[in-house]
Amino acid sequence: MGLTCISCGRRYTKSKGLYYCEACGSLLGTLVVDYEYAKMEVSRDMFSSTAPMYQFEKLLPVQNHSKVASAIGGTPLLFFEDCFGVDRLYVKNDGMNLSASFKDRASIIAVNMAIEEGYDTIFCASTGNAASSLALVSASSPLQTVIFVPSTIPSGKMAQLRAAGAEVNVVAGSYDDAFDQSLEEGFKNGWYCRNSAVNPYLLEGKKTAAYEILVQMNYQVPDYCLVSVGDGTVISSLIKGFEEFKRLGLVDRVPCVIGVQAEHASTLTKVFKRGEPYIPIREDVHSIADSISVGYPRDVIKACKFLARSGGDLVTVPDHEIKDAIVELATRTGIFAEPAGAAPLAGLKQLLDQGRIQKESAVVLVVTGNGLKDPGAIGGNS
Ligand SMILES: Cc1ncc(COP(=O)(O)O)c(C=O)c1O
Ligand SMILES: [Zn+2]
Repeated sequence: MGLTCISCGRRYTKSKGLYYCEACGSLLGTLVVDYEYAKMEVSRDMFSSTAPMYQFEKLLPVQNHSKVASAIGGTPLLFFEDCFGVDRLYVKNDGMNLSASFKDRASIIAVNMAIEEGYDTIFCASTGNAASSLALVSASSPLQTVIFVPSTIPSGKMAQLRAAGAEVNVVAGSYDDAFDQSLEEGFKNGWYCRNSAVNPYLLEGKKTAAYEILVQMNYQVPDYCLVSVGDGTVISSLIKGFEEFKRLGLVDRVPCVIGVQAEHASTLTKVFKRGEPYIPIREDVHSIADSISVGYPRDVIKACKFLARSGGDLVTVPDHEIKDAIVELATRTGIFAEPAGAAPLAGLKQLLDQGRIQKESAVVLVVTGNGLKDPGAIGGNS
């Protein structure tokens, strides 16, 4: 296994304390993990459409040392014929994970890595989901968990944090401010870092959702896969997962991956549309989709490069369409999503209206978080 800097291409080997390229820094120098693919013996019949994510251990950077691995990944892919204007609609319901979000796929990697490397404390900054995920995934481990969140965290996510007994630091300011503060304190104290993008191994856990989609579709590659975007790690992970299965000869093409952002929290989209060289920007953002309200995306370079390389794109949707999408998704599929989880449906409707996605397509919507985390978003008690 090796790691490559997304900006300068410098190579690294896995070592304790290595997170990002020393030459490029934590924002520009995020690392991409690779494996000896040529030596890997994998075949389609090795994987099950219901097994949890550690079935892909060969393609993960660390062995499992956690007691909760059986509750992470292996989430259902629901199929709906002629739904929301497309002939074949698939919904990957990642709200079914241990803490009810996609983030568990990353948290278990971080917990396993921290245990293996002998840490006693793990920390993370988060809009809410990564934090509640880490707190619950690490609860049964020997690790202490320290969390940094903005005061805007929805009550459901805060309740998960409290229940799991994590140390919670509520930071005055935005998620982006919480991120900066956590890095300062966490590294000063020598804790293990589970911050998006800074830790290159998190993406490895997240990519298993792409593997699962392909296995669950019996290796029939969908035309489009839509997912919401904040920091840009989740979308990068899906692209990497699809590309790795192609590289391993398990499929012969990759889907077009499209990221969806909220209209007033679309920093990554702006950077992508301005084109290369991708220059990070920092701005004030707001949206009902708290999980993707990110004004200083930490995986911006990787997300833009992966999107450009794979032929993907980004679209933005207004908050009221995200709200409508929550209700429509629940009404038609029975899946109750938090705003960021429903945003891909709002993106799909826009692309169908614009004729950029055709009715005959096979489309996967990735629902990244359960609606019970943030019922206030559609007028429930918050
Ligand atoms: C529910 C949900 N969806 C999507 C995302 C977006 O992931 P990323 O910030 O890696 O782009 C997040 C991140 O917090 C999330 O919690
Ligand atoms: Zn570099």
